Amino acid sequence: MTEVQDNEVTDSIESVEDIKLAAISALETSETSEQLESWRVEFLGRKGRLTALLRGLGSLEIEDRKVVGAAANRLRGELEQLFEERITRSKSSQAPVGSIDITLPGRKPAHGGLHPSTQMIREITQAFNEMGFQTVEGPEVELEKYNFDMLNIPADHPARDQWDTIWIDSETRSDVLLRTHTSPMQARVMEANDPPIRVVVPGKCYRYESTDATHEWHFNQVEGLAVDEGITFADLKGTLYEFARRIFGPSRKVRFRCDFFPFVEPGVDMSIDWNGRWIEILGAGMVHPKVLENAGYDSSKYTGFAFGMGPERISMLRNEITDIRHFFSNDLRFLTQF
Ligand code: DAH
Repeated sequence: MTEVQDNEVTDSIESVEDIKLAAISALETSETSEQLESWRVEFLGRKGRLTALLRGLGSLEIEDRKVVGAAANRLRGELEQLFEERITRSKSSQAPVGSIDITLPGRKPAHGGLHPSTQMIREITQAFNEMGFQTVEGPEVELEKYNFDMLNIPADHPARDQWDTIWIDSETRSDVLLRTHTSPMQARVMEANDPPIRVVVPGKCYRYESTDATHEWHFNQVEGLAVDEGITFADLKGTLYEFARRIFGPSRKVRFRCDFFPFVEPGVDMSIDWNGRWIEILGAGMVHPKVLENAGYDSSKYTGFAFGMGPERISMLRNEITDIRHFFSNDLRFLTQF
């Protein structure tokens, strides 16, 4: 009998050991919360394997009951602790450190912005729009005829040197170029419309020249043209004064001086007072009678004024930018400041 009882005790204690091995390996492979819960039911639950073992102790001798009972209760404690640890580990692996920290401030959405040249062009054209000028645009690839001839700049005229030209290679014609200024649109607008005319023309221009802090081979201009009966130099001055007040503030001083451009007579340039220095910001003048006639207008009936300016130069002044090349080098450290 003792033999049998000994065997039974040994069997029961081995069962405790079996349960332990089975529980540990099953716990390692339990990943999901459902798997962990069914593990808990199987090993620690009220109808689980440990409970069943403890219930069976009644059939043992009192001495054996103590030994097996103590071993089973120890195992329960161990399994409960392992289970807690496993739960904690699976929680932290489901939410890795740093994935969601709801206390962090939100990320601002990245947004683009208008290029500083575009912003300046819009401000300039809007000032003129409010004075009754309409915005129009023209081709950057232009004909010699509009860029030069119709503007009173004949082929042999020394003034052509002022506009070092990038010519377009073409099999069929040799009079195609990248416009060197926006002035050709004066001729195009007059050719296509009868007076009265009031337009501003923003757009890109190109010149074959080496670049430095104040020169680019490619830049923008804003051209202006007003033609009607009875337009005088006083209209030119009044319009450009008002423009300067809008862009540079009401107390800004302005100065006109004589200058030469083949398509105006008289021609002037306008400077503004910038910390005690006169800085030239545009060229202007009364439209040359020949330019009116080239476009088919009667120059004894109509007069007009024209002007042209560089928005990058105006932006450089206002924003204290010292190198015009910043505008076109696409450096975000520059662009994001606007
Ligand atoms: N087209 C000239 C330039 O590129 C600027 C200019 C001067 C335009 C006088 C005008 C003007 O309309 O009247 O330098």
